[in-house]
Amino acid sequence: MDFLDKLISVGIAINSVVDLEELLDLILQKARDLSGADAGSIYLVKDKELVFFAAQNDTLEKRLGKEEVKNLFRNFSLSLDKSSVAGYVAVTGEVLNIENVYENSQHDFWAHKQWDRANNYRSKSMLVFPLTTPKQEVVGVIQLINAKENGQIVPFKQSFVNIMPYFAAQAAVAIVNARLYHEVEASHLDTVFRLGVAAEYRDKETAFHIKRVAKMAVVFGQELGFSKQALHNLYWSVAMHDVGKLGVPDSILNKPGPLTDQERAIMQQHTLIGGYILRNARSELLQDAQIVALTHHEKYDGTGYPAQLKGESIPLIGRIAGIVDVFDALSSVRVYKPPFSEEKVRKIMLEGKGTHFDPDLIDILLENWDKFWDIRQKYQDGQKISEKHWVPQRLCWEELWQEIKQNQANWTPKVKNSDLVKW
Ligand code: C2E
Ligand code: SIN
Ligand code: SIN
Ligand code: FE
Ligand code: FE
Repeated sequence: MDFLDKLISVGIAINSVVDLEELLDLILQKARDLSGADAGSIYLVKDKELVFFAAQNDTLEKRLGKEEVKNLFRNFSLSLDKSSVAGYVAVTGEVLNIENVYENSQHDFWAHKQWDRANNYRSKSMLVFPLTTPKQEVVGVIQLINAKENGQIVPFKQSFVNIMPYFAAQAAVAIVNARLYHEVEASHLDTVFRLGVAAEYRDKETAFHIKRVAKMAVVFGQELGFSKQALHNLYWSVAMHDVGKLGVPDSILNKPGPLTDQERAIMQQHTLIGGYILRNARSELLQDAQIVALTHHEKYDGTGYPAQLKGESIPLIGRIAGIVDVFDALSSVRVYKPPFSEEKVRKIMLEGKGTHFDPDLIDILLENWDKFWDIRQKYQDGQKISEKHWVPQRLCWEELWQEIKQNQANWTPKVKNSDLVKW
């Protein structure tokens, strides 16, 4: 393949990724493939800083492992001025093609040399270029280090330097798009999530219910080997499982005693009302949320509501939502019941294996019991629900994802198949 073919295929590849983290890793990988670079990193312009986002280094990865290399850069940022090489490139828009970092007198590589020394690495050739959009906006900088040919470090080739602006423009546009996509998605989610919060506000004793069930659902997702995107969708979908309660009168929702048959029938409509609120959604996430709203009270043996679905015909995410919803209802106080003891909750969940609940999911629940119980303990009801508590909700997914990544070594997914989510 010549460069043009490669460039076109790279363009197609990077335009199909919307997750920023994944996108930057891919851009860096492609830049290194095209140029033969041993190492590289990407910085993005954010406020008045250049924030480090992605790093790859074949030599160090062989020595330390991929995650460890990322850790070397974590929380690293440079000020957006000429004091660093990356900053220089971001501010001036110039391309730097340097044959030998240690013999270059035009730029100050002091910080870079420090880094080399600390990590026992030796930089020689370096190519630093801005990620400039067609509107001439610099969104970031890519720094490539040590071009290799037959195992030898060589200068970066002019043939790559020539096509590089086209590559950089495609990458810059993809980054802008990924950010826009995330912004639109975030505000979209925020709006719907507020509906869930509104519903939950009325049902005071279950104020923390949303948060607990969403977190518990993610534990199931992890055990089942869901992808990051699938975990994200699961988290938000389960958080919205009861939006339909908005349509249930207070007199029923907060009734201290048992419900009459008629009241129960009205209560059960919260599944259909939720399905209605979330109908015709265009985003995959809200489509999942609708499925969860509709199916979280179906039972494995076909005796649930509203559709009496049975077994695997209940979508997996609905089965997961159903199990965490009941686990949480049993272990928490409700207007109509006290919280049950850990032993009693375990007993009821086990009794429902194969009748109310998917037996495989019950096995996962029992194997990971402490994780679920810890979530239950950590987000206790009775803590006052306040503005302060709800406003940072939007950050929670990112926080949770960072936590998951850090603990990733501690869990091995049993099924490596994110198709599962698509039943
Ligand atoms: P919820 O309180 O969040 O309960 C969710 C589900 O947990 C229930 O779905 C049920 O499957 C399970 N669950 C709750 N408490 C118990 C229990 O003591 N024993 C057992 N075995 N399972 C339990 P369900 O029954 O479809 O109820 C849906 C929602 O309807 C409940 O959500 C609650 O908001 C309301 N609800 C149900 N029963 C009553 C009641 O007797 N009085 C009042 N005021 N509301 C009720
Ligand atoms: C999202 O999860 O994509 C939006 C909310 C956030 O995590 O900022
Ligand atoms: C709740 O879970 O907060 C009550 C409604 C339901 O789950 O069906
Ligand atoms: Fe419900
Ligand atoms: Fe619920």
